[in-house]
Formats: sequence, C-alpha cells, structure tokens
Amino acid sequence: MTQRLLILGATGRTGTQLLDLALARGHQVTAFVRSPQKILQRHPALTVVQGNPLHTDPLAQVLPGHDAILSALGPSGREAFRPSTLLAECAASTVAAMERASVKRLVLVSAALLFPGGGLRFAFFRKLIQHHLRDLVAAEAVIRATPFAWTIARPPRLIASLEDSYRSEREGLPTSAWSMSFRAVASFLLDCVEQGTHTREVVGLARGEHGA
Ligand SMILES: NC(=O)c1ccc[n+]([C@@H]2O[C@H](COP(=O)([O-])OP(=O)(O)OC[C@H]3O[C@@H](n4cnc5c(N)ncnc54)[C@H](OP(=O)(O)O)[C@@H]3O)[C@@H](O)[C@H]2O)c1
Repeated sequence: MTQRLLILGATGRTGTQLLDLALARGHQVTAFVRSPQKILQRHPALTVVQGNPLHTDPLAQVLPGHDAILSALGPSGREAFRPSTLLAECAASTVAAMERASVKRLVLVSAALLFPGGGLRFAFFRKLIQHHLRDLVAAEAVIRATPFAWTIARPPRLIASLEDSYRSEREGLPTSAWSMSFRAVASFLLDCVEQGTHTREVVGLARGEHGA
C-alpha cells in the first residue's frame, strides 16, 4: 500500500538509496534536506523541501499527513571524528515535530558498533569513531523514550552495491555482520514501515545470504 514517507538525510549514501527504493515501491516521498540541489532524482511522487533537520518548526510544518519518518542522517566526513550532538539534536527536533504533527512511526539508521561483541575489528572502529557513537547513543535514547512506534536499525560497515538482501536480528548482532550495502539497509527500513514490523525494537543487520 502506498504510504507518505518523509526522509531525513536523503542526500546521503543511505538516504539516496532510500529515496530511490521508496519511489520504486510506489510511495509518496518528501525529501527534507538542507541542500535541495543535491537531489538529482526527478519523479512525480517526489517532493523536495528545503530545511534543516535541527529545527523543529519547519519540520513540523511539512510533516502533517505523512505516515512515517525515515532518518538516515549522519555526520559528514571528518565530523564523525569530533565531538558532536548533531544526531541527538536532530532526534529531539524530529520527535518534537512528530508530537506536533501526530505522526507516530519513525525508523532510524544507527550502527552495529553499539552492540557488544564483534571482536578486535569492532573494538578498533569503536575507538576510532567514539564521538559519533556517543552521539548515536544519545539519539537512540531520545527516540526510545518516546511512546512512538520506532525502529532503530544497526547495520555494520556500509558499501555501495545493488545487493538489497539482508539478515536481521532483534536486539543483537547477526553472525558475520561485517558489511552490507546501503541499499539493503534502505530495503530493511522500508520493509519495517510497509509491514509494521520491529516496532519499538533495536535490530542488528547484516548482508543477506542466498537472497534471504
Ligand atoms: N556509512 C557507513 O559505513 C555506516 C555504517 C553503519 C552505520 N552508519 C550510519 O548510517 C547513518 C547514515 O550514514 P551514511 O553513510 O549514509 O551518511 P552520509 O552519506 O554521510 O549522509 C549523511 C546525511 O546527513 C546529512 N547531514 C550531515 N550533517 C548534517 C547537518 N549538520 N545538518 C543537517 N544534515 C546533515 C547530510 O546532508 P548534506 O548532504 O546536506 O550534508 C546527508 O544527507 C549514519 O548515522 C551512520 O552512523 C553508516
């Protein structure tokens, strides 16, 4: 069934796949972005709105009538290595806008590094992007504290590939969760919204096996 979806981070690598796949699946999509010129996609079901996700008011004005928000925001480039509250602040403004617009469904991309385990490889990257992970923890906390139907997806390292199958595990790291495609994450987020699955769950993701 067609849904009205608002995407945050639609100019990013995950967001671009999310936008593309949402349109391909027949949804009405609003891309709420700070740089509309970066959206090259043209489609009758796509509306591009210029705005900053840090600000509640413009988001709350656009949001009424949407069925869900899908957020693929992330720090750009070197920002991931510096202390930041970007994602926590965007989570707060998103939640405030949802309250005002009576939108109750939110899916958010977080990171598998927040799960324990993963061995030395995970430990190395946890140290490397510790500031970004701290921000993600804070963003997740903001969302978990709401009464909304949220889903938090935690994928491992993401790569560019058209492969869109994934494995998912509720509240845990799937086996061999080393990498997967941006598009597979997008596919998972849309499946959750379309099927109403994984509400109020944190879900670990991994590359699919044999089309799983
Ligand atoms: N990439 C990975 O390997 C990986 C692995 C696991 C988890 N994740 C998680 O997935 C999420 C998305 O990752 P990605 O690699 O797809 O991100 P990305 O390509 O870097 O895109 C980031 C998005 O966030 C927006 N953004 C950045 N700074 C902003 C700011 N100050 N104000 C407003 N918007 C801002 C960007 O908009 P502009 O175009 O306007 O800058 C862009 O749309 C991240 O939270 C990350 O933790 C990523």
